[in-house]
Amino acid sequence: MGLNVTLLEDSFALVAPNGDALVETFYRHLFEDYPVVRPLFENTDMKQQQSKLLASLALVVANLQNPDQLVPALEEMGQRHVGYGAVEGYYPAVGATLLKSLAEVAGDVWNDELQQAWSDAYDEVTKHMLAGALAHAV
Ligand code: HEM
Repeated sequence: MGLNVTLLEDSFALVAPNGDALVETFYRHLFEDYPVVRPLFENTDMKQQQSKLLASLALVVANLQNPDQLVPALEEMGQRHVGYGAVEGYYPAVGATLLKSLAEVAGDVWNDELQQAWSDAYDEVTKHMLAGALAHAV
């Protein structure tokens, strides 16, 4: 995928022990900064959702060098997101929130290089999820 795999793996390993804090922080910021997406999660069990998000991040990081498996999984996830009301315009909000939350949980070690690596990874994930969403719409 042309991503900085080592950096992504190492930094995720660093925040993973605080994974619960990461996903709690994520949804707190998401709903504070982008209240427009709140209704999408109206009937969602947020504890479960936090675990699912963390698991999906772990899956992405674990399969960065395995695009043959990762890409179809992301396309399917993108398809499912159509049903959740996750329109394309919401993806940048989620990306900004993810980066903000990662930076917060990583603390002092966070730097521009990590910001760039995660921003590139999120763009790549978005690309495949939206390709799957588009296939769904046809
Ligand atoms: C990198 C991007 C994203 C990742 C990794 C991600 C991850 C997940 C995962 C793993 C689930 C559990 C269900 C499933 O696997 O289908 C889920 C559900 C959901 N996601 Fe995302 N998501 C992303 C982007 C978005 C965006 C942009 C939105 C829009 C606000 C969104 C809103 C939702 C909603 C509403 C649900 C359903 C919650 C429920 O079950 O009630 N997601 N997401």
